[in-house]
Amino acid sequence: MSSKAPAPAGSRITICEVGPRDGFQNEKTFIPTAKKIEIANALLASGLRHMQVTSFVSPRAVPQLADAEEVLAGIDRPEGAWITALVPNLRGAERAAQCRLDAVHTVVSASETHNRKNVNRSIEGSLSEFPAVFERLQAAGIGVEGGIATAFGCPFEGVVPAEQVARIARRYQELGAESVSLGDTTGMATPLTVRAAIRAILAEAPGLDIHLHFHNTRGVGLACVMTGLSEGVTHYDAAVGGLGGCPFAAGATGNICTEDLAYLLQESGYETGVDLDRLIAAALLAQEAIGRDLPGQVIKAGPRLKRHDPELTATAAG
Ligand code: COA
Ligand code: ZN
Repeated sequence: MSSKAPAPAGSRITICEVGPRDGFQNEKTFIPTAKKIEIANALLASGLRHMQVTSFVSPRAVPQLADAEEVLAGIDRPEGAWITALVPNLRGAERAAQCRLDAVHTVVSASETHNRKNVNRSIEGSLSEFPAVFERLQAAGIGVEGGIATAFGCPFEGVVPAEQVARIARRYQELGAESVSLGDTTGMATPLTVRAAIRAILAEAPGLDIHLHFHNTRGVGLACVMTGLSEGVTHYDAAVGGLGGCPFAAGATGNICTEDLAYLLQESGYETGVDLDRLIAAALLAQEAIGRDLPGQVIKAGPRLKRHDPELTATAAG
């Protein structure tokens, strides 16, 4: 096992906003395309620069994201924006290659059962399609981030060994992936499993950049981020308001929340480039569009130094 130095205090940490993909995919009621674009643009206006905007998947499997091309055509691209979308197969790569994208996030699960549920193939079936996927995207000048779902446990099979995750990471490295993203599909990651997976990848695929994608299903998503930082990882996915979840994984709930993550990182002395007040405003816009309270906490409490009017708060009197 190898390890890396912790992310230095004051360094820049990348937050990749995945709400428009991981969040919206799990919403039953169709969010109008113009509203999706408005929310994505509000998120970009808060200073977020990395965003996974949509998926090129079957519209029968995920009807919510059937408007992928239109959403990508409609979003703003502020200076430094890094726009990505999810692709599971060659048909998805062909669609992505026609769009303006900086990178694509491919997906294969580390567990057989989830891969079959999610993309209707074996793990080897997905991996053997990836050379053509990479070729198609590379020909279009689009980079690839290799996504590994159920990287910290599978809701159908249980334990997923770190070595299995590292083997897939190695395959991605051989294909020319710029990075791998470890997806915690149903919030099974813990600080110990996060550390084990990172170290196994550093040993098996040295030099490969690692991204982390946590869900807060069991309340320890931000604790896992702290472990990631101590292991030198500087890129984290999160979803506005804590939206998120995979429709093809039993018990899946929201991603770690973007505002809560930005708050934690900023209050820990890291640079995020995000204006928290504007991010909260974007989260309120998303919450209104979704039509129910979202699980994020900073959206409810506000920034740490938000002041309350003493006149409006009861005084205890015996
Ligand atoms: N985009 C649009 N349509 C696609 C597609 C893509 N990327 N891939 C396949 N299709 C269409 C085919 O054209 C075919 O359409 P038709 O029946 O009208 O001819 C149909 O889907 C079936 O194609 P097939 O290759 O047999 O796919 P499949 O049924 O084995 O499904 C996936 C494979 C990957 C397309 C499907 O499982 C899927 O979209 N999964 C979504 C995974 C996801 O988003 N999970 C959450 C995020 S991790
Ligand atoms: Zn996810």
